[in-house]
Amino acid sequence: MKLEIKNTENFIDKAKLVEYKVNASKANKSLHQKNGLGNDFLGWVNLPNEISEELISDIEKTAETVRKKIDVMVTVGIGGSYLGAKAVIEALSDNFSNFKTETNPIMLFAGNNLSEDYLYELTDLLKDRKWAITVISKSGTTTEPAVAFRILKSELENKYGKEEASKRIIAVTDKEKGALKQLANQEGYKTFVIPDDVGGRFSVLTPVGLLPIAIAGFNIRNLIQGAIDTAENSSFEKNENSAEVYAAVRNILYDNGFTNEILVNYNPKLSFFAEWWKQLYGESEGKESKGIFPASVTFTTDLHSMGQYIQDGKRNLFETVISVEKTKYDVKLSKDSDNLDKLNYLAGKNIEEINKSAELGTLKAHLEGGVPNIRITIPEINEYHIGELIYFFEKACGISGYILGVNPFDQPGVEAYKRNMFQILGKPGYE
Ligand code: PA5
Repeated sequence: MKLEIKNTENFIDKAKLVEYKVNASKANKSLHQKNGLGNDFLGWVNLPNEISEELISDIEKTAETVRKKIDVMVTVGIGGSYLGAKAVIEALSDNFSNFKTETNPIMLFAGNNLSEDYLYELTDLLKDRKWAITVISKSGTTTEPAVAFRILKSELENKYGKEEASKRIIAVTDKEKGALKQLANQEGYKTFVIPDDVGGRFSVLTPVGLLPIAIAGFNIRNLIQGAIDTAENSSFEKNENSAEVYAAVRNILYDNGFTNEILVNYNPKLSFFAEWWKQLYGESEGKESKGIFPASVTFTTDLHSMGQYIQDGKRNLFETVISVEKTKYDVKLSKDSDNLDKLNYLAGKNIEEINKSAELGTLKAHLEGGVPNIRITIPEINEYHIGELIYFFEKACGISGYILGVNPFDQPGVEAYKRNMFQILGKPGYE
């Protein structure tokens, strides 16, 4: 993984960069020494190195056993108990995996919305399938997954009977607290623990992410290895590391009025990775009336929609592009004797060469339009490099939050809608 910041140089002051790199280094040290804000939620910092062989094997064995029984896995969870797994699975899966089910189960998600139609259509689909549930909730009390789980559990029990259903439900939750833990004990579900000191949005490398990713058929050891190597490269003891530089640059841009960061990709497999990233940064930094607003686009798709605004709209945007060097497959454009579409000038070229030209052309246009550009390059999309990106963004997020002066590890603002909703619904205690 490589970070390039040269296309931010015209928008930031060199002296300020030196100053902010020092701040970033101090913030990084604070994360390791656990003496900053939110220091009871820093379990993710050393997590990749601390995942035990026993846990990895347990996840792999559980995944292998359940995969034999199902053609659909429904993963129930929301926010940090959903986005990481979905992001990694989408990044690594065939674009059309739901139509190619010979080797891997279809991975569906529930409990991430309160749509009645979604639940109806899902349960309707599951009637003719062999399926199971992974239910993920740290608190065990979050409304959206709790509602979905109650409905899906009853469907599963109706289909398989209570005893077999309890063998088809895997719970990922707190080691002792919460309604889900209590239910799991009572019904004898296979259970995995979410560590106390790892918050939802930093939990993808715990069973929260690792279990669904393994069930989907991916190599969690390579994912963890990518994170281990990036943890080492971004330790505070490393002189200049990319996580510190990224955190420093985005904070300077923010100070200079670039209050919106757009995560850009040129591969639709990374679209959901951006959703994970948006939660990570939005929930960590958006507080006390501060914080960069995280947005995302998939190019070239969105060049035909959001492209106009990015090129010409209010100049408060900067882009962070995730660029992938190599494609998995090889598709070339052929020559056409009629050439009615006038594409013969591209004949013989790979599609990715056209995509890369769009990327370079866009970079130039957006820079000229006043949009600073940070670029992160990975050689290819695989478990290892996705693991690198995950840890890189987590580390940079902690550093960046500290530079901004907020606690990046709490989310007090998330409670406001819940209080109102509970009052409207007449939940006891909220009258
Ligand atoms: O990052 C967070 O803490 C949140 O997004 C939570 O993960 C989300 O609200 C789900 O919480 P829980 O796992 O307790 O159901």
